[in-house]
Amino acid sequence: MSQYFENDKNIKSEKRLIHFSFDGNNYSIYSDNGVFSKDKLDYGTRILLESIDIKGLLGRVLDLGCGIGVVGLILGKNNENIVIDMVDVNDKAVKLAKENISMYNIGANVFKSNIYDDVSEKYDYIITNPPIRAGKDTVRKFLLGSFNYLNRNGSLYFVMRKDHGVKSMLKELEEVFVTEIVKKNNGFYVIKCNKK
Ligand SMILES: C[S@@+](CC[C@H](N)C(=O)[O-])C[C@H]1O[C@@H](n2cnc3c(N)ncnc32)[C@H](O)[C@@H]1O
Repeated sequence: MSQYFENDKNIKSEKRLIHFSFDGNNYSIYSDNGVFSKDKLDYGTRILLESIDIKGLLGRVLDLGCGIGVVGLILGKNNENIVIDMVDVNDKAVKLAKENISMYNIGANVFKSNIYDDVSEKYDYIITNPPIRAGKDTVRKFLLGSFNYLNRNGSLYFVMRKDHGVKSMLKELEEVFVTEIVKKNNGFYVIKCNKK
């Protein structure tokens, strides 16, 4: 079976709207087979978003591994003072994220990138629910790699389950970042990493 981050042209398309609510607002966005959490807002993503003071963000934000666009969408809906870039390696996800963002009239820039390969800006925030199934190497590149794409005083926010190795990841991140556990919930950890 192919993974949600692979560009598998053989996956039968069943594009449809999925519905969820967040912070009292209802959202309906396009999803399809072959993307992450294709039927619902992922629990980890929800916890991640709930842990961030979205309205207090200011500056440039990267939604790294954006999937169909829920993070960028919710940020953009709730904060007009940020510039949002969104990237994913999955073509279908990028296409759907673009559609979803424009359906909600959000001016985010969505483009394909293998991790940071096509990212040229620096950010005040990088926000991610990293692709655990892509393997530890990819996750390390997502998280440790953020250091080079954050402005001074910039922050990385990510969510990871305890049983997916958040503690050992934290140890590595502590070597270059000041880290903070923002939230623990049902085995999910939301971590904030500030550039030292
Ligand atoms: C756990 S999902 C999160 C998706 C979305 N942000 C959400 O919260 O619903 C991780 C995302 O990372 C993407 N991804 C996997 N490997 C990647 C890579 N090498 N470069 C960029 N994105 C990647 C996957 O396609 C997937 O959409």
